[in-house]
Amino acid sequence: MIKTAVFPVAGKGTRFLPVTKSIPKEMIPLVDVPILHYVVKEAVDSGVEKLIFINAKNKRSIIDYFKRNYELEKFLEIKGRNDLIDLIRDLSENIEIIEVIQEEQLGLGHAVKASKELIKKHEFFSVLLGDEVIYSEVPAIKQINETAKEFNAPTLGVIEVPKDEVYKYGVIDGESVSHKGFKISKMVEKPKVEVAPSNLITPGRYIFNYDIFNYLDKTSKGTGGEYQLTDAINAQAKNERFYGHLIVGDRFDTGTPLGYMEASLDFGLKRPGMKENILKMMNEKIKKYS
Ligand code: G1P
Repeated sequence: MIKTAVFPVAGKGTRFLPVTKSIPKEMIPLVDVPILHYVVKEAVDSGVEKLIFINAKNKRSIIDYFKRNYELEKFLEIKGRNDLIDLIRDLSENIEIIEVIQEEQLGLGHAVKASKELIKKHEFFSVLLGDEVIYSEVPAIKQINETAKEFNAPTLGVIEVPKDEVYKYGVIDGESVSHKGFKISKMVEKPKVEVAPSNLITPGRYIFNYDIFNYLDKTSKGTGGEYQLTDAINAQAKNERFYGHLIVGDRFDTGTPLGYMEASLDFGLKRPGMKENILKMMNEKIKKYS
């Protein structure tokens, strides 16, 4: 079982300005639950106990959210609101939280490298990106771990997207080796649609072994002038076995305003008691705006 998860959350959230001027994009809610709550829950529901946040100095609210708030708990206890205590404690029990401040944001590869000292040499660990939410019966990291366990090798989650969207993601080339597993031969970051090796992309879910740090150490700046995690994975896949696992679930790229809106609407519709009212409201909006 994967016991450690790394969450690179230091990004400035420029695609979500102005709100991200003072609120981390990961803390923007889907209805009333921060996006990152769902991502952390996926890890915790997969068996993770140690959460490592690669954070920026001014994004303190992320850590506060996942820690116990004894003062608020006491206040709610006096008010007799035990239901709300359960809600704010949901993910804060039986977990260890570690924060690493990433002084400069030089790319995803640079962020993951910042966890090196905290990872044990023999352990597999996971990395989850905070702007991708995956709603599934079996948590995505747990699904990916099936292939990681089967081949005893690092494995990343993949999903299919329409071919004309691949330029936004890390894209794999590989061959199918089991029902959901692929052996990766190559990976490219944000390729042009015409040269993309496939339409299988990673939605930011990875299970690594310690070797990834050797490749990250040797990676130089790539797409967008940043240290790309994808480039390190590509190098590892060329020298060692590296797998992909097809994730089953609803995936939301909340990193763009439209993707965020879709996720918000979808999570509202899933909320008991809200569906009928939302659908009624939407019918009125369709009449008004179409
Ligand atoms: C990052 C990764 C990319 C991955 C994507 C998933 O890109 O570099 O490989 O497919 O997340 O959302 P970003 O969206 O941060 O540019």
